[in-house]
Amino acid sequence: MTSIKNRSEDIDLSNKQSNMTQKINLIEKFNLISEYWSPRIITELNGQQIRLAKVKGELIWHSHEREDEMFYVLKGKIKLLLEDQEVIINEGEVFVVPRGVKHKPIAEEECWVVLFEPAETKHTGDQFCEQTITNFNWI
Ligand code: NI
Repeated sequence: MTSIKNRSEDIDLSNKQSNMTQKINLIEKFNLISEYWSPRIITELNGQQIRLAKVKGELIWHSHEREDEMFYVLKGKIKLLLEDQEVIINEGEVFVVPRGVKHKPIAEEECWVVLFEPAETKHTGDQFCEQTITNFNWI
């Protein structure tokens, strides 16, 4: 019995590994997202997740006490208001908001953002609002 159980665990493990090595097309994944400000997980590594967020309009001012937050804009542009500066991240650009720094993202037009952050990171940080999501779904 024990050896059969071990064998089935081996099969599960190999399935998981093959899933992890499948390539992911970001544009196809973004095309599946219909809600704004609702990040979806596409993969994870080393305790970090890569999440895709389609955004338009604005999100609440917030900060992340322990996590730096990376914004990579795949399509469109997003403005980040920071306490003492304003940054416009254009298509193909990356910006990292350091931990503890208050920020407010604003997108006048639809923007596709790739986020890379620890699995426990909340997208509205220390704030709770109607856009806050507690469980991110995979896509
Ligand atoms: Ni944030």
